[in-house]
Amino acid sequence: MRKHYIAGNWKMNMTPSEGAAFAKELVSALKGSTTKVMIAPPFVTIPAVVEAVKGSSIIVAAQNMSDNLNGAFTGEVSALMLKDLGVNTVILGHSERRSLYGETDQFINKKVLLALSQEMDVDLCIGETLSEREGGKLEEVLTRQVTEGLKGVSEQQMKRITLAYEPVWAIGTGKTATPEDADAAHAFIRSLIAKLYTKGVAEELIIQYGGSVKASNAKALMSKEHIDGALVGGASLSVEQFLPIVNFDK
Ligand code: G3P
Repeated sequence: MRKHYIAGNWKMNMTPSEGAAFAKELVSALKGSTTKVMIAPPFVTIPAVVEAVKGSSIIVAAQNMSDNLNGAFTGEVSALMLKDLGVNTVILGHSERRSLYGETDQFINKKVLLALSQEMDVDLCIGETLSEREGGKLEEVLTRQVTEGLKGVSEQQMKRITLAYEPVWAIGTGKTATPEDADAAHAFIRSLIAKLYTKGVAEELIIQYGGSVKASNAKALMSKEHIDGALVGGASLSVEQFLPIVNFDK
């Protein structure tokens, strides 16, 4: 049985001091919770948050990482640096990296393989745009993103992979996919993984939903068969909004 995995992507929000204060509040609010929780601060906020969550089971992730381990790559942050900070999880392929910074499936795949080579866990984001959905291209887009994004990833390495299905048209818009539409997309993604790997790998895979997840819709989304968690943006920026999502089943 897959356990739910709730993640907060802070995007470019929270200074180090704000992040530390948030993390301390979340640690005490989550005492006794068994739900798997991840928070992904901006790079500069990571050290303060890692320190603040010490002793808790909260996972601290990076929102991105370089496709190189070191060298003349101004402004980049490498897997080696993240691991040295105690970060072993990285979000890759977020739609904002794809749309704003031109990251292609092939470039994202290079990062996925590099993260896995460094024994990091990967939360790989996929999802269609509104025009792709309205053009009937949902399955074509998801097939491409999953197939290309996971190229070269072994069955064993799939244990380190989480997928986050984030319909681009639902991100930051307040327009959440209906639980039924989201579950149908997740079911399709799971069927793809079964074809690329095995039924067992597909059954074990955690597929999070992202796109305007709030306290008001979390329970309905998480109750669906193929939805195993959430990747939350806006509602992850305050404990008051994030906690009810983590505790959706309470
Ligand atoms: O990565 C999660 C994010 O893209 C979803 O954002 O604000 O719609 O929850 P939001």
